[in-house]
Amino acid sequence: MRLTVIGTGYLGAVHAACMAEIGHDVLGVDVDPEKVADLAEGRPPFYEPGFEDVLTRALDSGRLRFTTDLREAAAHGEVHFICVGTPQRAGSRAADLRYVDAVVDGLAPNLSAPCLLVGKSTVPVGTTARLAARVARLAPPGARVELAWNPEFLREGFAVDDTLRPDRIVTGVTGKAADETLRRVYAPMLAAGVPYLVTDPNTAELVKSAANAFLATKISFINAMAEVCDATGADVATLADAIGHDTRIGRQFLNAGLGFGGGCLPKDIRAFTARAQELGVGPAVAFLGQVDEINQRQRSRTVALAGRLLGGDLTGRRVTVLGATFKPNSDDVRDSPALAVAVELHRQGARVRVHDPEGAAKAVLAHPELRCGADLLTACQGAELVLHLTEWSEYRELDPVKLARVVRTPLLIDGRNALPHDAWRAAGWTVKALGRPAPPPEGPGQAGDRAVEALRTLIASPAASA
Ligand code: UDX
Repeated sequence: MRLTVIGTGYLGAVHAACMAEIGHDVLGVDVDPEKVADLAEGRPPFYEPGFEDVLTRALDSGRLRFTTDLREAAAHGEVHFICVGTPQRAGSRAADLRYVDAVVDGLAPNLSAPCLLVGKSTVPVGTTARLAARVARLAPPGARVELAWNPEFLREGFAVDDTLRPDRIVTGVTGKAADETLRRVYAPMLAAGVPYLVTDPNTAELVKSAANAFLATKISFINAMAEVCDATGADVATLADAIGHDTRIGRQFLNAGLGFGGGCLPKDIRAFTARAQELGVGPAVAFLGQVDEINQRQRSRTVALAGRLLGGDLTGRRVTVLGATFKPNSDDVRDSPALAVAVELHRQGARVRVHDPEGAAKAVLAHPELRCGADLLTACQGAELVLHLTEWSEYRELDPVKLARVVRTPLLIDGRNALPHDAWRAAGWTVKALGRPAPPPEGPGQAGDRAVEALRTLIASPAASA
């Protein structure tokens, strides 16, 4: 089939290449000529594992091309996928839909053959209906243009796999023709048995908002438990394992730490709240405000912990931050918790050096005040505190003995609860993490004995038998 994919960011570029991979004839469209030139030559404008291979294969097959010309796109596509960004509107929590609107405004007047416009971006519920009215106004008389919504659930770092082998495909359509067209687009996935849910556009749009709201809630839930653990000396990692064994709860997305960031979850829960308020059901999702607040608080709790560990004043203290991206296996620093902590430590006077395997360049571009170490050991040289804030596997494989030799003080905050704490402690490091107790001064045997003793006393006491 002839497809266009409009917007070639993390979502669109991967979607375009993967659609070519499964046999479609794809035209990728973007307003940024530099990005288009890079993609056309097989140079990914961002870091995403496996993407360069699939892009190169698609270009070599002749089934993928790129352009900046929306008129060329209008003439090419039987199906047009809208994959542009829907960032947070400045000064508001709502989504900024200007890029989606601009695509429709640019495309619709040039559509002459029957076609299907399919939104993939995360949008407020009701967007398909609004855009359908806009298309009806702008398209030439007689043009048969249908609209559908087909939310994308890919995760950065797994984008290629998530696109080729998704957990599920959800389409929101208003008629049989659109349903049939989308089934043809995704025929290989359907044949592979991927769950395929067909619904109306409102539900499809809401599915995406609800999925991201649920994931964000799960993370903030475990981070709230981490705060309670800190107040009691309990261990949030064990707690997560223990509740995660309940299949109704599940262990995924229960990793306590610095919380969620990136270009999706934070802005999507805010946009969802704003839309619910417009619809008069603000109170129903008011808890998402708390989800957001708990999430932001993990950043300030981490900065406060760093301050406490360094004696209350960060001025002039040498601090190394490991990780700048919002998650590993991505170079994306949008709303990155790690970067936010680095910036705040710097603002409070610390001499901060940042290291990230892929995101250092984007981090410094966004925050020129930060310095990056050329390599990991250089970044840690002379540090009085190391903060591990994005869980790249390269940090998990670090030799804590070797690192202890280059720092000034072997003091670590593991903001992602992902390093082997015992090994680090054995190498002489003092390790702190949110929601994790300091190791007991006595061996587990002694602690166990004491617990048994306490239980005996309790059972023997008159109050217990009353
Ligand atoms: C998310 C959704 O997962 C995806 O379905 C949607 O399409 C886009 O938004 P992504 O932003 O790529 O994907 O990242 P994700 O893997 O969901 O992680 C989001 C953030 O949550 C990261 O900052 C991550 O570090 C954090 N996180 C994740 C936790 O803090 N704890 C966890 O247990 C899991």
